[in-house]
Amino acid sequence: MRNRSADLVIVANRLPVDRVTDDDGTPSWRPSPGGLVSALEPVMRANDGAWIGWPGGTETGMRPFTSDGLSLVPESLSAEEIEEHYEGFSNGTLWPLYHDLVAKPEFHREWWDAYVRVNQRFADRAAKIASHGATVWVQDYQMQLVPQMLRDKRPDLRIGFYLHIPFPPAELFQQLPWRREILQGLLGADLVGFQLPGAAQNFIRLVRQRVGHKTHRDLVYLPDGRTVKAAAFPISIDVDGFEELAASESVAERASEIREALGNPDTVFLGIDRLDYTKGIYARLRAFSELVRDKHLAVGEAVFVQVATPSRERVEQYRILRDDIDRLVGRINGDLGEIGKPVISYLHSSYPRHEMAALYRAADVMVVTPFRDGMNLVAKEYVACRLEEDGALVLSEFAGAADELRQAWLVNPYDINGMKAALRQAHDAEPKEIQRRMRAMRRTVRERDVNHWADGFLSELAATRPDHGKKVRP
Ligand code: G6P
Repeated sequence: MRNRSADLVIVANRLPVDRVTDDDGTPSWRPSPGGLVSALEPVMRANDGAWIGWPGGTETGMRPFTSDGLSLVPESLSAEEIEEHYEGFSNGTLWPLYHDLVAKPEFHREWWDAYVRVNQRFADRAAKIASHGATVWVQDYQMQLVPQMLRDKRPDLRIGFYLHIPFPPAELFQQLPWRREILQGLLGADLVGFQLPGAAQNFIRLVRQRVGHKTHRDLVYLPDGRTVKAAAFPISIDVDGFEELAASESVAERASEIREALGNPDTVFLGIDRLDYTKGIYARLRAFSELVRDKHLAVGEAVFVQVATPSRERVEQYRILRDDIDRLVGRINGDLGEIGKPVISYLHSSYPRHEMAALYRAADVMVVTPFRDGMNLVAKEYVACRLEEDGALVLSEFAGAADELRQAWLVNPYDINGMKAALRQAHDAEPKEIQRRMRAMRRTVRERDVNHWADGFLSELAATRPDHGKKVRP
């Protein structure tokens, strides 16, 4: 990557691919968690784009490279930075704080110092490779200081920031000892994007109260005459890609194999989540197991497949959660299962898109019950894969997706009895009712796919200061 050559720069904590070492010691790359790359790939290609991110692991000195025609710029993290910036401040402080204190955030000054250092390094790298007047799009909670750090060095740039997770109300955000610094970091952007309008409002209100800038509706007026806009751009998925996969013969075959392997039950319930305490996996499995215990559902006739993708495994709260879920699944299957007929089929593993699509096709009831979630793309992926307009979605009110997928069976994940009732309703619903709901949800998901999201954000960003910087080609 030559200096000052990229017209579009993505700055994210992770590269779209992770460096992994195979069993025989050979290094290779595999897609990293999160589906951002499919959204950004076309705009990156059209604009000499470059993507700056951590390649996973602790390898240092990696040079920029191209993968599938995309310019990737690895920014390494030391073991200490992984501990303090990634596991510490990002996932031990910000993640639980922004997700409604589902777990208790920890505040440590060394973690903050590492977060500042890493953000500065990513900003410096972006400053080096962005062309004059380029657009830089900074992603997510691990990088909130980058916009202002970058603006200090490169006032010629057009800078956007997008938060993939919820932005909390003032009452929670205020606990953060570095609340002002974070707000000021974000205000370096021309456009700050959120999943939902409520999050944008939380941000504007906090800026007014804590930084003292003048605001009006979705705009912040800075003393130097610049304005910053805050707005919602609900993220989505590569709908065409998922539909194509779901329609393929090999996925259809794999879906029947899965049902066969489960003993051809009448109803397959499915949960797919990163193994994260925000996802409400424990409560959901309890609700399901009580329906079996109370004979509303029969062992063998109904089965729950829970896929939990390993995540952030060195963070204490995630270890505790894994043990809790292991124990719960063992207890439920031990108490209620029969030979060859488990109540819950539990998989602690991550799967490629093909297998995910087959699972979505195989499932009659998809259960998505986070306590708090920025969007939840699994819910949208399920809808995209239900080409025949069948399949029921049980969805938490506290997932961003609930704003759009109004026809799901909406539940409060803290209310176990309410969840049991919704699971039963989804299980018992008439095919016509299921179709009516799924058809409406499919329409919504198809109308607003991930390209709609990326184009929406980038054109709004281009419009915020039309006289400033180059235009990004859609
Ligand atoms: C969420 C976050 C992403 C993150 C992903 C995977 O979707 O919004 O920023 O990359 O989880 O988590 P990880 O910690 O493995 O990057």
